[in-house]
Amino acid sequence: MTSAGRIFSGVQPTGNLHLGNYLGAIKNWVELQTDFDCIYCVVDLHAITVPQEPVNLRRSIREVTACLIASGIDPSRSVLFNQSRVPQHAELAWVFNCVARLGWLNRMTQFKEKAGMNKENATVGLYAYPTLMAADILCYKATHVPVGEDQKQHLELTRDIALAFNSMFDVDFFPQPEPQIQKTASRVMSLRDGTSKMSKSDTSDATRINLTDSVDDIAQKIKRAKTDPEALPSEAEGLADRPEARNLVRIFSGLSGRTESHILAEFGGQGFGVFKPALAELVVDVISPISQKMNQLLAEPDEIDKLLASGAEQAYAITGPVLEDVKKIIGLTPP
Ligand code: TYM
Repeated sequence: MTSAGRIFSGVQPTGNLHLGNYLGAIKNWVELQTDFDCIYCVVDLHAITVPQEPVNLRRSIREVTACLIASGIDPSRSVLFNQSRVPQHAELAWVFNCVARLGWLNRMTQFKEKAGMNKENATVGLYAYPTLMAADILCYKATHVPVGEDQKQHLELTRDIALAFNSMFDVDFFPQPEPQIQKTASRVMSLRDGTSKMSKSDTSDATRINLTDSVDDIAQKIKRAKTDPEALPSEAEGLADRPEARNLVRIFSGLSGRTESHILAEFGGQGFGVFKPALAELVVDVISPISQKMNQLLAEPDEIDKLLASGAEQAYAITGPVLEDVKKIIGLTPP
């Protein structure tokens, strides 16, 4: 165990991971393994808040696990498992359903986006999704949570729930977990619309780069990415009203580790005919090794299942005692 604190983060197994997941979260997860005690979870119970085909869900749990390992999550250094194998997540979520208030959940913008116009038809699980997320984090008493910008509101709710639990029972039990949000690529946007987020649930595959895309797919998607007719500016301020151009420069920055200013000093004054091929080459350099490794891992699905089972045992060793304490605090079991 390392000393800087405890990291928890999760990703839903609802299809292929994309460049937004990678730059907004997973790249950071990999780096944090050096200094932190890290727990990474494939959140399959979150996935079933919207309908899933059982065959696809089973496949997706393995694929996302393989993708995380291929991206650099090392199961011998970090705890890696799928959520449904560790029952304390759901158990603590129920407790938090009895702490969080309807008014708090009513403010959650992700529910509004996902439920769309037909709220009456959304599952109760989709509505209560953020209390399960709070339970994921707090059943490990995690101190830091690396996520993309879109999860910030859920993290604020998690902090409110921790505080409310502590004050309801007059204890200092749950910590206030800190969100860790990347600066450059906290919100990677769609390749077809610079004002909407790159997302697994977008019906058009052309809007995102999946970590499993072939070299040709990547080149085509970037070539066809929406841009404007102007050349790139020489300074970052020149991107202010150009969401698509800004998104591509930010992706370049996230992947290369170079600042936007540095990139624009090189490409400023040039058109997308020059910038896009350079970006495509960079994306391929990062993604191709990941998809190759992922395919190797998927050739042995039993090995992935064994890793997940072993990760779940390690997770359970932490969450079991935390839930015992929670039950004592609430009065469900003797002190
Ligand atoms: P999910 O599965 O949608 O995404 C996983 C991670 O990727 C980030 N992300 C993005 N970052 C930048 N640009 C984008 N376009 C983009 N799209 C996704 C997300 O912010 C996330 O960090 N509710 C979470 C999963 C979850 C969780 C947790 C996370 C469940 N329990 C506990 C942290 C802690 C989700 O749906 O992520």
